[in-house]
Parts: sequence; C-alpha cells; structure tokens
Amino acid sequence: MFSYKTLQIPAIAVGIFLSLGSFSCQQANDVEIGLLADSAMVVSAHPIASQVGADIMRQGGNAIDAAIATQFALAVVYPDAGNIGGGGFMVIRLANGESATLDFREKAPLAASETMYLDANGEVIKDLSWLGHLASGVPGSVAGMVAAHERYGSLPWETLLAPAIRLARDGFLLTEKEAQKMNVQRDYFLKYSTNPPAFTAKTNWLTADTLRIPELAETLQRISDNQNAGFYQGETAELIIAEMKRGGGIITAEDLANYEAVWREPLIGNYRGYEIISMPPPSSGGIALLQLLQMTAAYPIQEMGFFSQETIHLMTEAERRVYADRAEYLGDADFVDVPVNDLLETSYNLGRMSDFDSQKATPSSAISAGTVLVESEQTTHFSIVDAAGNAVSCTTTLNGGFGSKVYVGGAGFLLNNEMDDFSIKPGAPNAYGLVGGAANSISPGKRMLSSMTPTILAKDGKLFMVVGTPGGSTIITSVYQTILNVIDHGMGMQAAVNAPRVHSQWLPDEIAFENGTLSQSLQNTLKNMGHSLKSRNGIGRVDAILVRPDGKLEGGADPRGDDTAKGY
Ligand code: DON
Repeated sequence: MFSYKTLQIPAIAVGIFLSLGSFSCQQANDVEIGLLADSAMVVSAHPIASQVGADIMRQGGNAIDAAIATQFALAVVYPDAGNIGGGGFMVIRLANGESATLDFREKAPLAASETMYLDANGEVIKDLSWLGHLASGVPGSVAGMVAAHERYGSLPWETLLAPAIRLARDGFLLTEKEAQKMNVQRDYFLKYSTNPPAFTAKTNWLTADTLRIPELAETLQRISDNQNAGFYQGETAELIIAEMKRGGGIITAEDLANYEAVWREPLIGNYRGYEIISMPPPSSGGIALLQLLQMTAAYPIQEMGFFSQETIHLMTEAERRVYADRAEYLGDADFVDVPVNDLLETSYNLGRMSDFDSQKATPSSAISAGTVLVESEQTTHFSIVDAAGNAVSCTTTLNGGFGSKVYVGGAGFLLNNEMDDFSIKPGAPNAYGLVGGAANSISPGKRMLSSMTPTILAKDGKLFMVVGTPGGSTIITSVYQTILNVIDHGMGMQAAVNAPRVHSQWLPDEIAFENGTLSQSLQNTLKNMGHSLKSRNGIGRVDAILVRPDGKLEGGADPRGDDTAKGY
C-alpha cells in the first residue's frame, strides 16, 4: 500500500518543469564531512550527552542502552529540551531488520477538559496552555525509557542512569548557548516556579560556569533504584503533586500511577527504493513525511536541483496539502479515527497533487479552510547506531524551551507545556495562532498531536540513515529535506544537515527561509510564481547518521546548535 513501485511520473508535469528553463540552483555546501566512525555513533544536541551514549556502547551496551543513557544525560546537561518531565517518541531498527516504535508522549490529566483554557465567554485565556502548572501533560519520558530497557536493554538499568546522576550531582560546564538561554529565561523561572530552580542560582551565567542540580541527582537515583516507581510513585510523585497543589495544577497521583508508554506499529513506506520507518500517531510526523515523499517521488528532484525554484516550489505545494490534511485528520488514534491507510494511499497523494501547477503557487485558501500551525522550537533529537548495526532515532521534548517553566520543587526538573499541542479551542486560533480540528481536541487521558518525526531508513535490508530534529512544525519538513538532500541531491550526512532549509505549512501561506540563504533573484522568481516569503532564524537542528558505502558511519551534527557526534 505504501510502495511507489506503481508510481508513474506525470509526463506533462515533468515536461513543464523541464521547460521552465533557468534552474537558479544554489549549491549546497558539499565539502563538509561529519565525524566518521567504524563501529558506533551518537549524535545529540550536547557534546556531553553524546559522549555518555558512546561510552555506554564502548562498555558493551547496545544502541537502546545508549539511547536511555543519552536521554537521561540530556535531562541534566540540556534542560531546555532534554527531560524527565516531558515525553517523546523512539523509532528502533535492529540489525536483523526488526523495527519498533515507542510512544512516550505526555497525556492530558484526568481532570483536563475541552474548555479548560477558555474563559466564561469561550475565549482562549492567554498563556494558560503555555506557561505555568496547567500547561503540563502527564510526563512520559521515564516510562518510555523503562519500556525500551525492558524490551531491548542489555546493560543493567543502574549503569544507564549512573552518568546522569554523576553529572547532576558533581556538575558540568555550561556551553555559551546554554548559559545565555538560562539568563534569558530567569524571570520566567522565578514567575512560574513555586521554588527557585537551580537555573536561577546565578543571575548571569557565563560560559564554562558549573551547574549542579543535587535535587535532580536524588530524583535520578530514585529512578535508578525503582524504575517507574521511582518517578510515578513515592517521593518523586509526591513532589510533583505538591508542586501541582502549590501552583494550581491538576496532575494527580492517579494520573502519574496510570501513565504507560505504548509500543506502536511502525509506519513503513518506501521512497525511491529506500525503506522509511517512522512514527505513527499521536505523532503526525510519520504520516506527513510519507505523504510528502509520495507526492514528490513522481518528480525528477535531482535534475530540478537543490534549492532551485522548481524544487522549492514543488516542496511547498506538497507541504501545503499535507499540512492541511494534518490539521483536519490527525490526533491520538486511541481516541479518534485517524484514516492512516487512506492518507498513505499512493493514489490519494497523487490525487492531492493533480491540481499542482509547476509555474504558479496555489493559494492556501484554495486548498482547504483551516488551521494555523505555530509551534515553538525547543525539542531535542538524537540518533544512535551501535557496532552490531542496531539503530535508534529518538525525539523528545518539553515543548517550549524549558517547558512550562515550572520546576518541581525538591525534585530538580522542569515540567512540559505539551498541553499547548492540543487544539485548545477546536476550530479557532489560540493565543499563539495554533488552531486544529476536533481530532486533536482535549480529552482526559488523550495524547496531544505531535510533529516529531524520528525516522530510520534502510536500503536492501541494511541500515542506511537515522534522522530526526526538533523544530515544532518545521520538524517534518526538515526531516523531509534532509532525506531529499541525501537520496536525490547526493549529499553526505554532514552536508545534508548543514544545507539551508525552507519551510512551509499551508497556513500561514508563506515560504520561510533561513536568513541569508535565498538569493534575491530566487526570491523574486518565487514571488512572481505567487509565493510569499519570510526569512527567519535556523530551521530545525537535525542530528543524523549515514551508513556510507564503505561501511563507515558519518555523523551529521547540526551546526545550528551545540550538536555533536561522538563515535569510535
Ligand atoms: O510535539 C511536537 O510537535 C512539539 N511539542 C515539538 C516542539 C518542538 O519541536 C520545539 N522544538 N524545537
């Protein structure tokens, strides 16, 4: 059903493309080569976390062990997105070809309701789903790591927690970016936490200052000693509930005790002979990525060129259609019927592109009425391959940078603000312009829709690439472009990650591009085709690993952040 074998290139469309004449192609920087390793590699948002994961594999751990250790290390050294108070998704492909996907997305508390962020007039109350205690869903990360370890772990659980405990207890050196971010957030931490977080111990953090979070070390020790019960029950749970009571939140002991991570059937598609393994609902990522690949597989993207007007136009037109579908159809499939199979029918996606005009933008208003997707951009992704060829692609988040800014007093960690990923008022924009359909409305125990797209590619039964990124709604398009960069544009992993990105998502009806990356003449051409353009800061921070033809692993660590590859 998801194969492209039967796909025919629409001759007319291609003909028009090729007759468009001048391919104003901007070359990607194809000279950078990422870290090369013979055996194993971790690429994550922080050098210390990558080192922790690589060390675990040197000690004999597999990719899943390394993922667990990396996740907990990120919760210490990268507190803006690494977490135990958030959630995420993990895609696993074992060397024997078996694949699995793990959903540890946060859930709406049992006391949540469809109208909880609305005032008496039914209007959205600004910031309520974004900042403070009511913004948090029930965290899933610890349950996710426990589930991954139960099924695939090989080293003892305590071994995987030990590095994070040490880092929290003994401290670690802040990078310049981390120091700056903590300074910027200081007032928010003090406003929304009932106890001052460790991050406010200094008013002005400097690069290479040492941050210690002893309370977090104790929480991690409880998780090390008691696994799920060390977080969802006992002292940690009591501290979360006490924090909720002090701050007017609604997460209860029952919410915590009931939380479960869920193994889900992986979404598997195919693009130009590569097998694509990605995340099903409650992430929209896998469906949207496979739809985009289906819609564009019919076109000669390689000839159309990297960052050419033709390629950017084609991607934008496909993205417009896919994000319109996302707003209408996608939500937690445990609560609503998501037409996954229909959305992934090749004929459906080709049909969606049947009115594609290679020379003219389709106004988003003509595609469908609807939804504005505005998401913040603090999440984190890591990619791991071990010496046996097992692979993990994991994206995890608090949602906004440092989540709800609520620090669990006495427990040393931040809670997510993932509730904002629900349509807080179905059919109408929330304070941040985020609108969605009934499929993603709030219900007790429901998981909010995500864009996270941890993905693994295989070719001829062998691992080919591990890829993913943070970036809110730009996650899907960043993963999509990274895949095109390697498969269609022939780039290596680091070059594919470095390459400039564009993004569009139906509404707002515009193409976002990274500052300074689109030439004026290319901008003019796209405007003449009917597109609106908007420049912005970096789009996505992709961390990926490619298995090269010589068998070596090449890391792609995104220079847009502190992202680092470590391997051996
Ligand atoms: O699940 C989602 O789609 C969002 N909560 C992700 C947020 C995000 O990526 C912010 N990142 N940089």
